[in-house]
Amino acid sequence: MSTIQAVRGMNDILPDEAERWLQFEATVQAWLARYGYRNIRMPIVEPTPLFRRAIGEATDIVEKEMYTWRDELNGEELTLRPEGTASCVRAAIEHSLLHDGPKRLWYAGPMFRHERPQKGRYRQFHQYGVEALGFSGPDIDAELIAMCAALWRDLGLEGLRLELNSIGAPEERARYRADLVGYLERHVDRLDADARRRMHTNPLRTLDSKNPMVQEVVAGAPSLAEYLGEASLAHFDGLKRLLEAAGIPYAINPRLVRGLDYYNLTVFEWVSDRLGAQGTVCGGGRYDGLFQLIGGKPAPAAGFAMGNERLMALLAESASVAPREAPDAYLVFQGEGTQAYAFVLGEELRAHGFRIVMHAGGGSFKSQMKKADASGARHALIIGENEVGAGEVAFKDLRAQVEQVSVKRERLAGLMAAAREQTR
Ligand code: HAM
Repeated sequence: MSTIQAVRGMNDILPDEAERWLQFEATVQAWLARYGYRNIRMPIVEPTPLFRRAIGEATDIVEKEMYTWRDELNGEELTLRPEGTASCVRAAIEHSLLHDGPKRLWYAGPMFRHERPQKGRYRQFHQYGVEALGFSGPDIDAELIAMCAALWRDLGLEGLRLELNSIGAPEERARYRADLVGYLERHVDRLDADARRRMHTNPLRTLDSKNPMVQEVVAGAPSLAEYLGEASLAHFDGLKRLLEAAGIPYAINPRLVRGLDYYNLTVFEWVSDRLGAQGTVCGGGRYDGLFQLIGGKPAPAAGFAMGNERLMALLAESASVAPREAPDAYLVFQGEGTQAYAFVLGEELRAHGFRIVMHAGGGSFKSQMKKADASGARHALIIGENEVGAGEVAFKDLRAQVEQVSVKRERLAGLMAAAREQTR
């Protein structure tokens, strides 16, 4: 029969790598707790109109990247979430989460975008998302950015650049947009098909075109910064002052507009030069209009999400990966009545908190000892008929030249605890 493989762009994460993910996740979760953010979990499937409204009809995500289908039973249009912010805000509105004040929240999990897969770009990928709901000041934008800088330190990641921009208020952007379209129309002969199409649907996205010819046109375009009013400038200044006070370097990138339509004022991205074309490991900004767009009472908000696959790729390059947690002992047994004895012993030791791998599948004593060694365990616990008769366990250090000893079963946990202390 033919084999069945995973869907293109959707990856298995095998045990060696998954162990590194677990370490990464432990670091991330300790960091989130330090900043007072609380976990929220939303469904992976949402009504399609949620993303259409939140992310915007004229974005790449909504135009061509969503996994969308019609529920056969009730005809509802459903979508696999391409990101988490829209769901998080939907949940906050649905459960009146802001009724007693603003909330700091985080979520994690798989997101789905039907993009062309390449290194660092997948159709199922994983994000940690961080959202500060109900806060309006630039201090929160600064907190979110400072948090990222702290996480890169915790993870031992160096060389991530912070790119920052303010895209102002919607009215300011509307005036800018009209002037930008006018300018692009005057240079339409030098635009590629994509920029021509976007010129009227989402002209700001032409600003971050990767095509050198379009970039040249865009270089002469009016600058969004010149359209920002006093309040927008004051917000941006407030953010920059806090970043400077905290010693967080940034580069203003006037072309940074982000690929989702819900942003206003602050937008930012953290970029690495070591990941090729998919160098953005984290992106976010302020989205004060999103609550209303999804049908809630107006509430200011800001947040960001980071791409786990891209961060894991950077971590794989750095030396900061801790060794995997090997078992404390591997249980080997052979002979009449030894299996039940070993089985119960294994349960007892695990109840004491030890990591025990019990041999399964039979085989000679020699082949079992080979498996014990390959498991990476510190000790082998060996049970034969003699041990069962005497209520003992043979205790062998697999990593040091120490004589194997037979110990009374009751003494084993104490001995193993002492051995563990020694290696700490
Ligand atoms: P985003 O920029 O679309 O923003 O995605 C955030 C991060 O997810 C990216 O910087 C990247 O690291 C990762 N990412 C995105 N697409 C892929 C992909 N196809 N394969 C691998 N990694 C990917 C958002 O999703 C917003 N919800 C962020 C946000 C939260 N803004 C405010 N709050």
